[in-house]
Amino acid sequence: MIMIGRSYAASGVQSETTRAWWKEAVVYEIYPRSFKDSNGDGIGDLRGIIDKLPYIRDLGADTIWLAPIFQSPNRDNGYDISDYKAIMPEFGTMRDFEMLMAKASSLGIRVILDLVVNHTSDQHPWFQKSRASHDGPYRDYYIWRDSVHGHPPNNWPSAWGGSAWTFEPTTNSSYLHLFSPYQPDLNWDNPFVRDEVFSIMKFWLDKGVSGFRMDAITMISKIPSLRDMSLEELKAPEYVYAAGPHLHAYLREMNDRVLSHYDVMTVGEAYGMHAQDIPLFTESARRELDMVFAFDIVHVDRQGWRKIAWPLSKLKEIYAAAGRPRSPDSWNTVFLDNHDQPRAVSRFGNDAAPFREVSAKAIATLLLTQCGTPFIYQGEELGMTNLPFNGLDDFEDVQVPIEWDAKVKRQGVNPEAFFESLKGLGRDNARSPMQWDMTRNAGFTTANKPWYRVNPNYIEINAQACLQNSKSVYHYFRDLIALRRKYPVLIYGSYQDLDPDHSAVFFYSRESGNSKLLILINMSDRGFTYASPHLAKVSPLISNVEHRSVTKGMTWLAPWEARVYVA
Ligand code: GLC
Ligand code: CA
Repeated sequence: MIMIGRSYAASGVQSETTRAWWKEAVVYEIYPRSFKDSNGDGIGDLRGIIDKLPYIRDLGADTIWLAPIFQSPNRDNGYDISDYKAIMPEFGTMRDFEMLMAKASSLGIRVILDLVVNHTSDQHPWFQKSRASHDGPYRDYYIWRDSVHGHPPNNWPSAWGGSAWTFEPTTNSSYLHLFSPYQPDLNWDNPFVRDEVFSIMKFWLDKGVSGFRMDAITMISKIPSLRDMSLEELKAPEYVYAAGPHLHAYLREMNDRVLSHYDVMTVGEAYGMHAQDIPLFTESARRELDMVFAFDIVHVDRQGWRKIAWPLSKLKEIYAAAGRPRSPDSWNTVFLDNHDQPRAVSRFGNDAAPFREVSAKAIATLLLTQCGTPFIYQGEELGMTNLPFNGLDDFEDVQVPIEWDAKVKRQGVNPEAFFESLKGLGRDNARSPMQWDMTRNAGFTTANKPWYRVNPNYIEINAQACLQNSKSVYHYFRDLIALRRKYPVLIYGSYQDLDPDHSAVFFYSRESGNSKLLILINMSDRGFTYASPHLAKVSPLISNVEHRSVTKGMTWLAPWEARVYVA
């Protein structure tokens, strides 16, 4: 690990942290396909987003991250791009995009885009030319190797299973794809590829976007030998994918040549990174990225394909580590949900009727009071839940058949066990249409059939119902966001876990100068009496349950009760 600048005081006081708009931002992720359909074709689009910008502004989010909006054959819903400088026709036109930018700016909302440049679509003209012959400038845009005796060039699996290589008879060789065969990996060692990527970035920055979420960015540099992985490495191949020797040099080059010329934020998807290596990306003196999404929270309830229980102690460890920055000026993200994860309330709360709302609010309290820039995923502010699945056909995600094939068909994993886990972990849980109201298809589309099924619980869980009810999950999110703006200690303050060993209560402080807030959350379905000397003298700021008093440091905590206090 590299330490730059002065190390932190043991208390973790972040006094050296410089202010930045993206540290103070509350980001709202939009999965455009499922957000709002404006023209009745069953697919969400840019005009739909434009219509809903005031909704996002009223919530209090000030930055939106748009999952890919570029031309794509949609094998992976836009994470397979065939033209980086064109809008996906299903989503609208460049004019619509410009209107979106103008409307967002008039509402004080910044826009960040998804930069998907570890790979392109196999339909991208670069790949079409690359695959056609051994010669020509595009061959080396991708990673080609000869197959040895009809076998793939090495034993690498793709991130979702199956070989990471696909054979192409035209040139009698195979190309590398760390995701699906429809997503060939770019060869970043080719300087022309880097020039292309930087030109794409400038193109969008010059249209006024405020930064990028960088997809699979840890995987852009490949280990030169492309040697076989060991059996141990095969259990978590992403650590080999992310071990390329030039990763940091390429990010620095990107920063020097592009990012440093704009006032932007960047957040990289840190797949395959150990927590201790994260400051290598985010330490500001290294001039690479501003923030990353660490995967510790994503791994907390899974072992390979299997869903496992997560103990609160694991969450506490994750946030304690994040709250103890290893270097003086690196910054975190906080997220519980995104388009690749099951719904937060179904995973970290309890989506059964008596607990859904209160637990959605409890984990919202966590999301908005931990150290780092919070990312909300569309529908999280309504307490939207996982989908019901009755069979494999209910899944739409390209990952599912690939994983099923690799695990169940080839490795002999028990199909029922696999399906059970998939229901809880599947990415489609997050991708069903946004639930706007109780009209047909949840008000997402006027088409008979939306592109993907609506969760049948929309009659009860929808934005309109939430807006009308001042006690809804939505309003609680809104109040928390407002609180975050009012108390900068929630942004810049140091972090301390006040009761690390309790198995149900998450109790921590944020502190800076003479400002100190306490956050108390019951992360369980049980109610009980809780006592702490820290509660001796406190005044309440917000709670998800009717206010209850504290006597002599003692109080009753209802199931999933959350409170924020001034100490
Ligand atoms: C990232 C995206 C995911 C996508 C994958 C390949 O993990 O978040 O949705 O499938 O990269 O681009
Ligand atoms: Ca549409």
